[in-house]
Amino acid sequence: MTVLTGDCRKEMPWHAPYDLIIADPPYGDTSLAWDRQVEGWLALARAALKPSGSLWVFGSLRSFMATAGQFSEAGLRYAQEIVWEKQNGTGFHADRFKRVHELAVQFYPVESAWRDVYNEVQITPDAVARTVRRKRRPPHTGRIDAGHYVSYDGGPRLMRSVIPLRNCHGRAIHPTEKPVALLEILIRTSCPEGGLVSDWFAGSGAVGEACRLIGRRYIGCEIDPAMAERARARLASLLPFGSGRSP
Ligand SMILES: C[S@@+](CC[C@H](N)C(=O)[O-])C[C@H]1O[C@@H](n2cnc3c(N)ncnc32)[C@H](O)[C@@H]1O
Repeated sequence: MTVLTGDCRKEMPWHAPYDLIIADPPYGDTSLAWDRQVEGWLALARAALKPSGSLWVFGSLRSFMATAGQFSEAGLRYAQEIVWEKQNGTGFHADRFKRVHELAVQFYPVESAWRDVYNEVQITPDAVARTVRRKRRPPHTGRIDAGHYVSYDGGPRLMRSVIPLRNCHGRAIHPTEKPVALLEILIRTSCPEGGLVSDWFAGSGAVGEACRLIGRRYIGCEIDPAMAERARARLASLLPFGSGRSP
């Protein structure tokens, strides 16, 4: 469990390869001084992944549309996305929809096959056990192959791509802190137990807390020294894996 202080573009390639990279960069949606897009990190992140590794990036639709070409230029292929539904959110305009969601999008290196990218099926625990088989590839799924999964307690209840979870208002260390429960889901599905998760824009270290709770190794990087120190203190206050919640 380490939080480095510095620029992820300089620090993070040294510790590769990673099973999973989680990145919550400044979205570049506002004119605020800290909300500036970071250039050039995507190609470095792709090169730092294991062949079975993937990258989850947080953002708004606006931020993904503004940077779409950069993902393909960096050799990253879109895989899937989830929507995090918050209980409250921001509105840029008083007379438009109140925005209560954010996106997290998964990418993987173009030289990898999607079927070889690590995946642990996420299920919800409210249905009957059974084996779910997809015999043929549905015509609309492109590169995604046929497959099956054995669900011991979730039956047909594959986890849905819209995930409602409270945000961290009132107890947040960082103004854009992500909930640990959401991060746990992304990490479980994309990183094997004991694998190495790399958090390129660490903020409060929420990804590190999720890793500690579910038994993954963690290395984060934060450019703001004061925030990096708070993230380190947060992680130092957690019990070792296995002494608290089980995975
Ligand atoms: C959206 S916040 C991340 C919040 C984090 N996910 C959390 O849950 O607390 C983005 C963070 O990236 C940091 N940052 C910006 N540029 C960076 C860079 N080049 N390298 C490392 N961190 C950077 C900012 O200081 C900010 O704390």
